[in-house]
Amino acid sequence: MASEEKNQNNIITTEPILENIEYIFDNKPINRFKTKPKVEDASIKLNELKKEIENIENCELKKNASKIVFSDGDYKSKIMIVGEGPGQKEDQEGKPFVGDAGILLNKMLKSINIDRKKIYITNVVNFRPPNNRKPEPSEISKYSNFLRKHIAIIDPKILILMGSTAMESLFGSNIKITKERGSWKDLIINNKTYLCMITFHPAYLLRQPENKKFSWTDLKEIRKKIDQLNIVL
Ligand code: URA
Repeated sequence: MASEEKNQNNIITTEPILENIEYIFDNKPINRFKTKPKVEDASIKLNELKKEIENIENCELKKNASKIVFSDGDYKSKIMIVGEGPGQKEDQEGKPFVGDAGILLNKMLKSINIDRKKIYITNVVNFRPPNNRKPEPSEISKYSNFLRKHIAIIDPKILILMGSTAMESLFGSNIKITKERGSWKDLIINNKTYLCMITFHPAYLLRQPENKKFSWTDLKEIRKKIDQLNIVL
């Protein structure tokens, strides 16, 4: 419905009659916080993701593991690390990087003034592969969807991929870590770009300590970026 009126120049104007006037002039207070705080949202989504992974079917890794190893650290952190998969100690404790590789990881982080508790850590696969074998390509690709969701929920400013399995999970298997490590890359998930550094896995460095010098270069580069982006840890 509309009412018609002539203005001073004799032009007919049409004014809409606001049938939903009660709605527009609602006497309820305006909710200016329609969306829930992001952080609360993230913790709910993380719990949902964890349940989704726990309910995975036909998975050899899950069948052989004692429990899920989902993550450790601060989910609000702007720095996220992705390793390969849980070992024996991680499988017992349900936390990533608590064995020998974890001890080295903590030292590496400390060397660039990062406290492990202030960052967020997860793995490509969340159940321990039998006898600590490397996850199969089919397992890496099966878990890659979970990892992508995980990254999108944490929404880090810097993503650190430790080792070739993490690299493969997110960038495919046609590249070599010896070539790709040490430079910044863009990883795109759901149209969002994540700044990403590929570097050697601490377990590899325990076996090949002569390559620690490359990791040191990468760590310094990571520290530089944290400072440039004014990330407070
Ligand atoms: N190696 C990994 O990649 N992740 C762990 O959690 C432990 C060792």
